[in-house]
Formats: sequence, C-alpha cells, structure tokens
Amino acid sequence: MRVEQEERMPSVPVASGHTSSETVFTWGAPPLVFGRGAFDELGDHAAALGLRRVAVVTDPGAARLGLPERAARALGAAGVASIAYADVHVEPTDDSMREAGAWARVERPDGFIAVGGGSVIDTAKAMNLLATNDGDLSDYLNPPIGAGRSPTRPLEPLIAVPTTAGTGAESTGVCIVGVHALRVKTGISHPALRPRLAIVDPLTTTSLPRGVTIASGMDVLCHALESYTARPYNARPRAEGPAARSAYSGSNPISDIWATRALALLGRWFRRAVDRPGDLEAREGMMLAATFAGIGFGNAGVHIPHACAYPIAGLVREYRAPDYPPDEPLVPHGLAVVATARAAFRFTYSTAPGRHEEAARLLTDRPHGAGIDALPDAIAELCRDVGAPTGLAAYGYDESDVEAIVEGAYRQQRLLAVSPREATPAALASIISRSLHP
Ligand SMILES: NC(=O)c1ccc[n+]([C@@H]2O[C@H](COP(=O)([O-])OP(=O)(O)OC[C@H]3O[C@@H](n4cnc5c(N)ncnc54)[C@H](O)[C@@H]3O)[C@@H](O)[C@H]2O)c1
Ligand SMILES: [Fe+2]
Repeated sequence: MRVEQEERMPSVPVASGHTSSETVFTWGAPPLVFGRGAFDELGDHAAALGLRRVAVVTDPGAARLGLPERAARALGAAGVASIAYADVHVEPTDDSMREAGAWARVERPDGFIAVGGGSVIDTAKAMNLLATNDGDLSDYLNPPIGAGRSPTRPLEPLIAVPTTAGTGAESTGVCIVGVHALRVKTGISHPALRPRLAIVDPLTTTSLPRGVTIASGMDVLCHALESYTARPYNARPRAEGPAARSAYSGSNPISDIWATRALALLGRWFRRAVDRPGDLEAREGMMLAATFAGIGFGNAGVHIPHACAYPIAGLVREYRAPDYPPDEPLVPHGLAVVATARAAFRFTYSTAPGRHEEAARLLTDRPHGAGIDALPDAIAELCRDVGAPTGLAAYGYDESDVEAIVEGAYRQQRLLAVSPREATPAALASIISRSLHP
C-alpha cells in the first residue's frame, strides 16, 4: 500500500505536554465460510454450534425465492429444528423491529439464522437482543435518540447468510433502524450484536434485481471509502479503558487492508455485475468486495456520507426505488449514502490527499489525476456507468430540505466522531447543498 498510516498521525496534545492520543485500536470479525455452495453447509455449522431449535429470519422478497425452505432443509438434515419468521420490513423501522422482537420473546429459539440482505440481518440482531434481554428497543438505541444501554445477558448465536453484495452486516456489531416518529435512522451498536458466524455464498446473489445490485454495491463503495479516509485511531482522544473505547476505532492499519482490497474488487467487478446479472465471476467479486468492506468498516467506522444518509432515507416523501417493495416511499440505503459522497470527499480531501487519490486509482485501475477532484470524478464515473441516480434532487429534495437533513445528520455524532475533518452544521449544509445537483 502506497499510503502509510503514519502520514497523518497527529497526536492530541494536552496541557502537561504529554499526549492523550489513543494508542490502541480494536479489531474483530466473525469466522467466515465463503464460496459457491456455502449456503448448503448451514445445517452442519448450526449443529456444530450446539443449536437445536433456531429461528430462520427473512423478508417477503427473500422468502419468495424459497430461501427459508432451503435453510430449513439444510438445518433439518443436520438435526436442527427451525421456525420461520418471514415478516422483516425492508429498511427496518423501530416498529417492525419491536414486532419481530415480540415474536422472538414468545418463541425463544436457541439461535437465529438470518437469510437475506442487511434489513434481515439487522432485524435478526435486534430480535436476538430483545429475546435475551429485557426492556424496549429504544433503551438500546444509540444516544441521543435512545438510551444507549448495553445488554446485560448473553445473546444467542446468530448465523448470518447475506444474500445481497452490500451491507457487510454479517460482520458488524451494528443494527440500523429507522425511527418512525423522528423520521431518522439510527442504530444499536454493541459487539454482542456481531453474528457468531457468517456464511457468504455468492450464488445467492444471482437473483438480485438490477436496482438492488446497484444500491447495495454503492453501500460497499462508501463503506470502503469512508473507513479508509476515517480519522486515524491515534488521532482520537485516548479512551479511559476498553469499556469506554468506541466500537468504531477510526482508520487503522488492519482495516485499511480490507478497505483497499474492497475498492480494487469494486473497480473490477461492479459494472459487470450490473450489466451481466448471471455472471458468477462478477457476483463472486462483488460478494468478496462487500465482505472485505464490511470487515474493514465494522471496526474503523464510516463518517459523513453515512451520517447524511440517515435523514436522507428518513425524510423521503414520494420517491419509490426501482426493484424495491413498491408499497411505500423509500431511498435505498446505498443510494442515500452515495448521494453526498462526492461533496463529502472534496471536504475531507485536505486531511489525507494521498489516500483520496489512492482510492480513486484503486477504483479505476488506472493512474488517476492527482488533486481534489480525482476521487469525486471516479465516483461520478462509476455512478454513471451503472446508472445510479446522481444528486439528491432525484429523490425529491430541494434547497428547502437542507436544514432538516443537516439536523438529522448532525445527530449522528457516533459516526461524525470518525470524520477526519470536523463536520460542523455549516460544513454539512454545504455538502448537502452541493449534493442536490452535483
Ligand atoms: N448493520 C450494518 O452494519 C449495516 C450496514 C449497512 C447497511 N445496513 C442496513 O441494511 C439495510 C439495507 O440492506 P441491503 O442493501 O442488503 O438490502 P435489503 O436487505 O434492504 O433488501 C433489499 C431488497 O432486495 C431483496 N433481496 C435480498 N436478497 C435478494 C436476492 N438474493 N435476490 C433477490 N432479491 C433479494 C429484498 O427482498 C429486498 O426487497 C438498510 O436498512 C441499511 O441501513 C446495515
Ligand atoms: Fe452502509
């Protein structure tokens, strides 16, 4: 890797002359079973974890593909009984998660198998939390929206089988939820939420419609870019002990490896996966990219584009996304994230020019012009080539919405804490304004 972490490692000085900058970062990921046909090994892995009666969690779209039955067959063959929950809401809300959690509290399975995209995996994390711990969902949501309570009792094993090449939720200790009343997304973030095992089978993604391939691929792109450009872990104030250390460490030498590999894979396979949905090599490349990016950002964190994406998704009025459930307005997570990426990376460029330029080079696989426009141009090129909407105006937003989006984004302090440059409300307003018609 050309760009060394040491290039941008300011320490945080204190009055005594000593430094109080962080010297430690944490890194974790679940064990992974990856490859074509891995899904069929689900039963053996569940049995090896000692599971006897699990909940197979999915959403109506994944259920229509017969995925829960396939999971139940694989489990049954290994002597593991299962019950099905197929009512996950795509882009889960606090209400949909409460409903799923109430079901899990009654059924009390001894493990959870999430078969689907990020919506399913996140809902299974919340079900697991609520089935094993008391209290309401809002007790666990990140402050200031929720009380940020930690679980006190151990969760059951969760096996995640992602069926989108997207969120990386199979590797992270985070679940994302849209809070209905506030029209904003937030999350629950705790290492206990991390799945015990990820089974990643690229064959599950050949049925992904074009719209979902594009949006979930854009999510991968932003996970890799944001974690690679995040504030370095040792430019953050030192945590007073492990319990006080944030789950998102900031960029670090281990996460950098995963992020940069993910960018190279995306550059190589994203366009082909969209153009040729049945191309297994491309699907496998995208699944690897999603996995790599998830393993990276799940530790380093993401920053401005993700913070802005939460209100962009939460405040949607009319927009309905192609290939997503048509019954309600929705800006898919990946599209909401990439919408502000170009302006955000112009804003962060000065903190690590080499990293921004390196990211552009990895994405385009050719020497890319140096300078502030290199990365935004590479992102624009990718969006154009795969046919992703450009600009917030496409989702019905105009200048009069900027203030509300800023307000929602500024609430995401857990994410903004790893922004490499301070994201003040004025800075966010400028980024969001420029993203209306980029
Ligand atoms: N926990 C995390 O770390 C994390 C990270 C990023 C995003 N997220 C969250 O994940 C959610 C988005 O997840 P996603 O992008 O994976 O999509 P998704 O789970 O919302 O699914 C999108 C659509 O694709 C369908 N689908 C899923 N797999 C399919 C397949 N193989 N074939 C055909 N259709 C399929 C679903 O039925 C659904 O209609 C958002 O709520 C986002 O906030 C979570
Ligand atoms: Fe994301």
